[in-house]
Amino acid sequence: MGQPTATPDSVNSLTVHDNRTGKVYNIPIVDNSIPATAFKTIQAPRAPGEREENETEKGLRVSDKGFLNTAVLRSEITFIDGDAGILRYRGYPIEQLALHSSHLETAYLLIYGSLPTKPQFKIFETEVLHHGVTHADAEQFCRSFRYDAHPMAILTSAFAYLGSYYGEANPSLQGQSLYTRGNAASLEIMDKQIYRLIGKATTLAAMAYRVRQGREFVTPPTGLSYTGSFLYQMDHLGEENYTPNPILEKALDVLFLLHADHEMNASSTTVLQTGSSLVDPYSAIAAGCASLYGPLHGGANEAVIRMLISIGKPENVPAFLEAVKKREKVLSGFGHRVYKTSDPRSFIVRKTADEVFKITGKDELLETAMALHAAAMKDEYFIKRKLAPNVDFWSGLIYRAMGFPLDFFPVLFAVPRVVGWLAHWRQMMLQEGGVKIWRPRQIYVGASKRDYVPIDERVAVEGLRKGPSAISHSG
Ligand SMILES: CC(C)(COP(=O)(O)OP(=O)(O)OC[C@H]1O[C@@H](n2cnc3c(N)ncnc32)[C@H](O)[C@@H]1OP(=O)(O)O)[C@@H](O)C(=O)NCCC(=O)NCCS
Repeated sequence: MGQPTATPDSVNSLTVHDNRTGKVYNIPIVDNSIPATAFKTIQAPRAPGEREENETEKGLRVSDKGFLNTAVLRSEITFIDGDAGILRYRGYPIEQLALHSSHLETAYLLIYGSLPTKPQFKIFETEVLHHGVTHADAEQFCRSFRYDAHPMAILTSAFAYLGSYYGEANPSLQGQSLYTRGNAASLEIMDKQIYRLIGKATTLAAMAYRVRQGREFVTPPTGLSYTGSFLYQMDHLGEENYTPNPILEKALDVLFLLHADHEMNASSTTVLQTGSSLVDPYSAIAAGCASLYGPLHGGANEAVIRMLISIGKPENVPAFLEAVKKREKVLSGFGHRVYKTSDPRSFIVRKTADEVFKITGKDELLETAMALHAAAMKDEYFIKRKLAPNVDFWSGLIYRAMGFPLDFFPVLFAVPRVVGWLAHWRQMMLQEGGVKIWRPRQIYVGASKRDYVPIDERVAVEGLRKGPSAISHSG
């Protein structure tokens, strides 16, 4: 955008008339988006009495609390049409991938951009599975947690801990262009960390599980698939020739594939925000893992089961929905920032659930879940707000039927999502023009300049939220 002008440059622009100054600006539209920085040149003198903190003369800011309509990068990875309920990885519909592909093949697709040939896949699979083994000290690390530690606390810490082993992978030690050079040597270092992180994600997750069961850790086996190896590491108790149930292994693989990426969700954004400082990928993945832990994101599948347990039986569904409508409760597993219809993954998960129940038997909460789903889908409150089931509504029932503990559910989301985090991180490291640190702006509405007051001359500012809380102490 240049000097203000009254004539649009082309049809692909936005004409903005600043009523404060009478000036007209043309802002280019590229790929149906406008650059937020263009608004910075829309400046006006500060109005009489206006706060200096508004910085009006320095240009307009674009306000978007919660990133409701801000595109933070250009991406070639995942496309979602939330109104039509469409999800595609690198152009391939999720339904086709779930039917024909595997989690690791899809990981290759997401990270490198195309479906692998047989030899390409072989190399990738071998490297990932080979890197499943962790340093023996990782066992000690996992054992240092309390017996009742949440497995997400263990997994999040374990990713950061893992990074301490690989000085050669740390831009703070090796130079900040370690991953952004994009030459063969740089790509090799990057790929090695990708293999390590995907390979060790299942190992660390299984260790987080076993430490709380009081079980010895299991070295990742050879000859099994990614999810087969994971189930083996979780469940093997010394049986000879133990192999996981192939139907459960396949079901978990489908669930992993469905969870592998979901474009700019909270955790992927966190990985990119953290990675934009050029920190090592282990620290960035640990940050993403922490973000995913929250109940509005990866914690929702766990929240769904707690909700179903609290409802108890189908007869209690109407009363529960009334409480939701009065905003006393939240219908976990419903609603999505992007989908305004059913999450396409939820149909595949629902189908997968039936496969799993054939092996495990039906989950006792299924009837309640089905009654809740049916009632919500025809309730005006949910229809009006376009609230429909998301991926978490049914997945928890599968995990429960397979015997995973409730608080392990977010781990089962985090492990496959490592793939998506890495795909986005790699894309950003290699993007044209290099990496720009993510440094958003704010709208400062706090106190204007004031002078320090000596402690004896202060008037107490009191009230709820105005100071530290008084807390009770236990023994
Ligand atoms: C996913 C979620 C965080 C999206 O939030 P969001 O995009 O900020 O949507 P909003 O909170 O603005 O929701 C819009 C409206 O629907 C309501 N709403 C959204 N999700 C709801 C839910 N699960 N139960 C009841 N009401 C819900 C909001 O209260 C709001 O109503 P209002 O306009 O009358 O105030 C939200 O839908 C949610 O909390 N869902 C439950 C948790 C969950 O399943 N998360 C997993 C996501 S994969």
